[in-house]
Amino acid sequence: MKRYSSLLFIVFLGVIAINACQTAEEKEYDTRWMGQQMKEILDNIEDQFGGFDQAMMETGYRYNELYWAGQDENWGYAEYQIDKIISSMERGFVRRPDREASSKQFVDQAYPALRSTIENEDKEAFNEEFVGFASSCNTCHAMEDVPFIQNIIPEKRTTLVKY
Ligand code: HEC
Repeated sequence: MKRYSSLLFIVFLGVIAINACQTAEEKEYDTRWMGQQMKEILDNIEDQFGGFDQAMMETGYRYNELYWAGQDENWGYAEYQIDKIISSMERGFVRRPDREASSKQFVDQAYPALRSTIENEDKEAFNEEFVGFASSCNTCHAMEDVPFIQNIIPEKRTTLVKY
């Protein structure tokens, strides 16, 4: 009888432990915002990721960092930023595939041209190519019906990174 009750006690402890874990898990992953039905869940997740503007806000920030990295001849940081621009855009195209066609002139020409000046650690060439790089961003904006978004060559240092 004694053995039986201690076995019961162990089972009882086990049940409490499992419940505690489940409660902790629910608290950690509160998925109520996602909704119930699959379509509703996917719509909500997509909404949270944002469309192409999220990729572009990131791109705008990295564009500025990239420019100043080139001015500082901080080539490691410049390469880091230009690669992040491309990967951010690519994630944007997964969400908004219709945008991709207009970016060809940027992805196939302006981007590799500027990237090679970074690989060569050539500041003069970097500054020359950066002009074409900026106007390639703006070409896509014109093609995608947002011609009012005109990126300029940064004039004032705002980056917080200094090599
Ligand atoms: C696909 C072509 C394309 C290319 C290439 C492109 N953009 Fe954009 N960009 C867009 C579109 C489309 C929008 C508007 C997005 C929207 O309305 O959801 C935009 C918006 C922006 C915005 C405004 C973001 C916001 O919501 O505040 C900035 C800043 C920007 N782009 C910077 C850049 C820079 C810098 C480059 C080049 C390094 C670049 N873009 C290259 C298509 C492009």
